[in-house]
Amino acid sequence: MTTILAVESSCDETAAAVVDAPSSIRSSVVSSQVDLHVEYGGVVPELAGRAHLERLVPVVRLALDQADLALGPAAPVDVVAATRGPGLIGSLLVGASGAKALSLAWGVPFVGVNHLEGHLFAALLDHPDVSWPLVVVLVSGGHTLIVSMEAPGRYRRLGSTVDDAAGEAFDKVARYLGLGYPGGPAIERAAVTGDPTTLAFTRPMLDDGLDLSFSGLKTAVVHAVRARPDVANEDVAASFQQTVVDVLVTKAMRAVAQVGAAGVCLAGGVAANGPLRTALQAAAASAGLPAYLPSRAMCTDNAAMIAAAGAWQLQHLGPSGLDVAVDPALPLEFVA
Ligand code: KG4
Ligand code: ZN
Repeated sequence: MTTILAVESSCDETAAAVVDAPSSIRSSVVSSQVDLHVEYGGVVPELAGRAHLERLVPVVRLALDQADLALGPAAPVDVVAATRGPGLIGSLLVGASGAKALSLAWGVPFVGVNHLEGHLFAALLDHPDVSWPLVVVLVSGGHTLIVSMEAPGRYRRLGSTVDDAAGEAFDKVARYLGLGYPGGPAIERAAVTGDPTTLAFTRPMLDDGLDLSFSGLKTAVVHAVRARPDVANEDVAASFQQTVVDVLVTKAMRAVAQVGAAGVCLAGGVAANGPLRTALQAAAASAGLPAYLPSRAMCTDNAAMIAAAGAWQLQHLGPSGLDVAVDPALPLEFVA
């Protein structure tokens, strides 16, 4: 059995996890920096990098402690992994450099992992025995991709956003409504008591292939609120959320039909959204297919998903050299 320590620091969460490969999570520690960035309404890269520096060692120590391992001169794990991109350069550097230092000191291999591939592996942690291909809808703060996962490591690009990411739309609409940061959970909370039929937003690009668009919807929310200032925030939030859910579920099921998928998956922070989870599960059930939803903690940024992707990568592609660079724009590699 291979035991892997992984570090994730691509954005505003300092995270470390210990996983027995392929999918047994022994610990997963996430230190969120929301408190630091909340007054700015978004992530401030300089503050994020500095906070990672302060938190990395305590977070790694805690992850090892919780797995009954110790941070010391002797190697407590067989391999160390870290996110090497995409993300904020200063943040990535802190986690990847720390992980490389541990790998060097302990004499164990280092694996640099693509953050997006980590998100794709998150569902496999909870559901190790899936059938392929899977359609994965990866919806995070920075990315919105519909992917056919033909097997681990084999991804076919089916669609992506032509403008804003889905999470970015949640964050911007929440900020406009004064609901706070991060926007996704704030919108979801407000929408609980709202009526999703109050405002009829056009479902962007609904009839149009598998690409998505969210920037027009954000503008439509602004126009609707200006035209109808009497409408409660809760109703705006619910109407907006329902629109995003309808679009994502329609596109996901269209992708499933197109590739003849054996199942459908959600990944990324927006996949923590309750109404999205319920709607996708219902659509998959009516199509007679399984929906694999990562637990909410595995949807948002965490290091267990990086460990899962890292363990697979080590086994099939080998370790990365310690000279592998972090890359803020690291793309997910697709098969032709
Ligand atoms: O995957 P993630 O933690 O970080 C990135 O890699 O971007 O995703 C963060 C995004 C944010 O835009 C946040 O507002 C959104 O995920 N999010 C949600 C929910 N929880 C987080 N969006 C909708 N509903 C939620 N419950
Ligand atoms: Zn992420």
